Amino acid sequence: MQTEIYPEAAGVTFRFQFPICRAFCAYLQSGAAFIMSKIVLGITGSIAAYKAADLASQLTKVGHEVTCVLTKEAVEFVTPLTLGTLSRRPVVTDLFAEKEGWQPGHIQLADEADLLLIAPATANVLAAMAHGFAHDALTAIALATRAPILIAPAMNGKMWLHPATQRNVEILKGWGVQFIEPAEGLLACGYEGVGRLAPVEDILAAAGAVLANKAKA
Ligand SMILES: Cc1cc2nc3c(=O)[nH]c(=O)nc-3n(C[C@H](O)[C@H](O)[C@H](O)COP(=O)(O)O)c2cc1C
Repeated sequence: MQTEIYPEAAGVTFRFQFPICRAFCAYLQSGAAFIMSKIVLGITGSIAAYKAADLASQLTKVGHEVTCVLTKEAVEFVTPLTLGTLSRRPVVTDLFAEKEGWQPGHIQLADEADLLLIAPATANVLAAMAHGFAHDALTAIALATRAPILIAPAMNGKMWLHPATQRNVEILKGWGVQFIEPAEGLLACGYEGVGRLAPVEDILAAAGAVLANKAKA
């Protein structure tokens, strides 16, 4: 279900001072009307996973229903408690920890999602998705959903530039998956180069644009 609000604000440049308004700024600067949507936020085992807490918080504050789905490795970097509290919803960490009901929870999430946003995305999850693996809740949702998929990778620069990773990105792009390219700078591994997670504001703006396009279609 999607509900459109503030349509008159589309295309207007907003510069709010307060953190709660940053997500509104990002959405509205994408030129789109604000759309309340169901977002599955996939989080993988990157040092940048803590930034997913900010994403979950901002997307929730502006009214989206955000369900965080963490890989087993992501739980090493950011806690389900943090993400569950910020998103105000249960967090998925286990494909087999199903809720009550006949339909598998991951299929229901895949079917109902308006957007699958994976941020940060590891080299490993890109490889799994490019080759159709469904070994955990996140990769199973990625295969099952027909919602737009938006990926923000984060990794060591050599991992990002490796032909295997670049080939996996091309495969995914060929299927219509959209990417927010990683930024350059000092990486957590100590190297300087490309591989940093794109700024949270850029990810929010890209998500807003994808949702707006989906609503128009
Ligand atoms: C401290 C640390 C930081 C890591 N950061 C990244 C990262 O930013 N990007 C990445 O692709 N892998 C990173 N890894 C490796 C992944 O955690 C590893 O490949 C893992 O299997 C990914 O699993 P997932 O894709 O299922 O979450 C890191 C590992 C460690 C120990």
